[in-house]
Amino acid sequence: MDLVGMGDPLEALSEFLRFPSISTQPEHAPDLQACAEWLSEKLTAIGLTATVHPTPGSPVVFASTPRDPQKRTVLIYGHYDVQPPDPLEGWTTPPFEPRIEEGRIYARGAADNKGQILAHILGVAETLREKGTLPVNVIFLIEGEEEIGSPNLADFLREHREELACDLVAISDTAMAPGNKPALTYALRGIAAMELIVRGPARDLHSGLFGGAVANPATVVARLLASLHDAEGRVRIPGFYDAVRPLEPWEREAAASLEKASGGDEAIKELAGVAELFGEKDFTTIERIGARPTAEVNGIGGGYHGAGTKTVLPKEAFAKLTFRLVADQDPAVILAAAEEYLRNQTPPGVLLEIITGHAGASYQSDPNSPDGLAARKALSGAFGAEPLLLRDGGSIPILATLKEILGVDSYLLGLANSDSRIHSPDENMLVENFLGGICMNRILLQELAR
Ligand code: BES
Ligand code: ZN
Repeated sequence: MDLVGMGDPLEALSEFLRFPSISTQPEHAPDLQACAEWLSEKLTAIGLTATVHPTPGSPVVFASTPRDPQKRTVLIYGHYDVQPPDPLEGWTTPPFEPRIEEGRIYARGAADNKGQILAHILGVAETLREKGTLPVNVIFLIEGEEEIGSPNLADFLREHREELACDLVAISDTAMAPGNKPALTYALRGIAAMELIVRGPARDLHSGLFGGAVANPATVVARLLASLHDAEGRVRIPGFYDAVRPLEPWEREAAASLEKASGGDEAIKELAGVAELFGEKDFTTIERIGARPTAEVNGIGGGYHGAGTKTVLPKEAFAKLTFRLVADQDPAVILAAAEEYLRNQTPPGVLLEIITGHAGASYQSDPNSPDGLAARKALSGAFGAEPLLLRDGGSIPILATLKEILGVDSYLLGLANSDSRIHSPDENMLVENFLGGICMNRILLQELAR
């Protein structure tokens, strides 16, 4: 298969995957820049006007077709940055040397989000090659900071509000349902990040000479973290659940159909590699993932990490946390409540430093709106089954901002297989999903023309 200016789709994807575009690590800034330029060249080659816009962080790639006022305008959003590949020893082959095996392409970013965004680009390329024109105006907005909470994108949206004016946003940065069934994701959780550092003695101390005499920062961190949940997994921060909007009856039905169609808890155990699931009572696992807020420890450290033992009382210890939020929780309110709760429990003799990180509200759109129905037709046309409706647990914090600044809704047509291992070693995308995604995008453009 050859596409105007793009060559073979899998070759193009492999090239894209070779850039180690890790946004959280400053030493990769040149790789992000090179990746943005590669994208811009590809978008130019298929006939769009493309530019690479610098920001205080990674550049934004912006591309568009000429604006025909008779046509609707679709903004396609995606990201070219990726999560760190760590732990490296978990990978079968190196994360930035793509490998195709048994119908899957393996590399960091394969499904999150390079395969998915390239499927959009190739869908546009194929339509242009065949018809010479598109049924809708198309804008591509591809950022390089999604995985660190899009710190510079809101300013970009405000500065370029006119060029970005559109009728809706289409995004493929979510997953299909287990069993590789097509799905339209109509809600994503929000997120709020926090790091806590507990500082105690002036230096690491002998744990025999000082143990029992001073507060141990590692113990304090452990106690603070343990205080976040009760034994059944409910978050204990006062007020945490106050703003949570209850599920509508149709949503509980959609969650139940999803559970039936996708193998239920057994399938989730298999994906997670655990013998038992754990979490809040009174909710199904699917509801807990998509519709309930959580507090998660992402990292914890302090003290001696080397071989053998060392009798030390560490001078400091830390933990990294993220809260996943649902409508109508406000990330700033949750961070403030968490901080107060943690401070109230900190014993004398140590200092608790709290650094709040990125934060973004949850997002929801209507799967039964005309554009929601168009998105569902594109998915069923390409994948041969009615899409399931799902609330997913991950976050794309910019969606709430797109609604606020551009006033438009986002529709999430996920292409990642549910066993794609995004953010984990051996991330992969099913080749059939990538190729099906190209087809899905062609149908989508047609359906959205209305
Ligand atoms: N593509 C994911 C989000 C996602 C994946 C949603 C699968 C639903 C299903 C996105 O790239 C992501 O990982 N976002 C981060 C955001 C954060 C770092 C601000 C997340 O959810 O952890
Ligand atoms: Zn991601």
